[in-house]
Amino acid sequence: MAHDHLIELLDLDVEVLHAYHRDLIGWVGREAADSPRIVDLGAGSGTGSLALARDLPGSQITAVDVSPEMLAHLRGRADAARVGDRICTIEADLDRSWPDLGPVDVVWAASAMHHMADPGQALASAFDALRPDGLLVIAELDSFPRFLVGTEHEDVEQRAHAEMAKRRQEAGLHMHENWGDRITHAGFTGVTERHFAIDLRPPLPPATERYAEVSIRRMRHGLDGRLSSSDLTALEKAAAGLAGRDDLSVRTERTVWLARR
Ligand SMILES: C[S@@+](CC[C@H](N)C(=O)[O-])C[C@H]1O[C@@H](n2cnc3c(N)ncnc32)[C@H](O)[C@@H]1O
Repeated sequence: MAHDHLIELLDLDVEVLHAYHRDLIGWVGREAADSPRIVDLGAGSGTGSLALARDLPGSQITAVDVSPEMLAHLRGRADAARVGDRICTIEADLDRSWPDLGPVDVVWAASAMHHMADPGQALASAFDALRPDGLLVIAELDSFPRFLVGTEHEDVEQRAHAEMAKRRQEAGLHMHENWGDRITHAGFTGVTERHFAIDLRPPLPPATERYAEVSIRRMRHGLDGRLSSSDLTALEKAAAGLAGRDDLSVRTERTVWLARR
């Protein structure tokens, strides 16, 4: 995966969608044991690890990712936020045999399970890693953020997302899986599912323009030869002309599943 701008995009996601992230961490915090030992699978730039460390006093986090760049960035953020002493990082490819994670109370996987080559195997490994009654948290995207609904660029943004969805499918990513069924099949019980329909309208968080720009430019980058040249030009114009617009919004849908081992 190209990490150019992905780190920034992940950091902007938590900044702009902070209400969703706060809601999610609050929910998980109420379900988790005191001072939980947490594993953050596909931890990325550290959104989950940092929020969990901050909000769950006494928690110990193990952040696992295949990317050393992601983990280095996460480490920098954790130290700056003064929670670095409660977060350790492990560089590992979770498509291979899992590292020894020790006793685990919570397995957290946000926007990570769809990357696994064999999600069934990954869920079996998560089951093995958790202590009995331990908590599994899976958060996934139903739709990637759209910023231009109701504007002249709504249709081209829609076509771009449709092509990106095809691209992800061709790449073998496991988007739109029935994770509830998969979790149950892996042996977990008490599955709870919550859907988050995020729809932010002005006044938007200050980082929204940058979030929209990075999102649209990344999408444009992946669409050479997949959209007409007029659509590609329109996307570029939209990305270049976001500053000062008052008609942007942020719409994205996420689903989160909680379950017990
Ligand atoms: C979309 S990002 C999500 C990051 C973070 N969990 C968040 O919610 O912001 C997916 C992350 O999974 C990592 N990843 C993908 N495949 C992986 C694998 N096989 N083993 C470990 N990490 C993986 C990527 O490097 C990336 O950091």
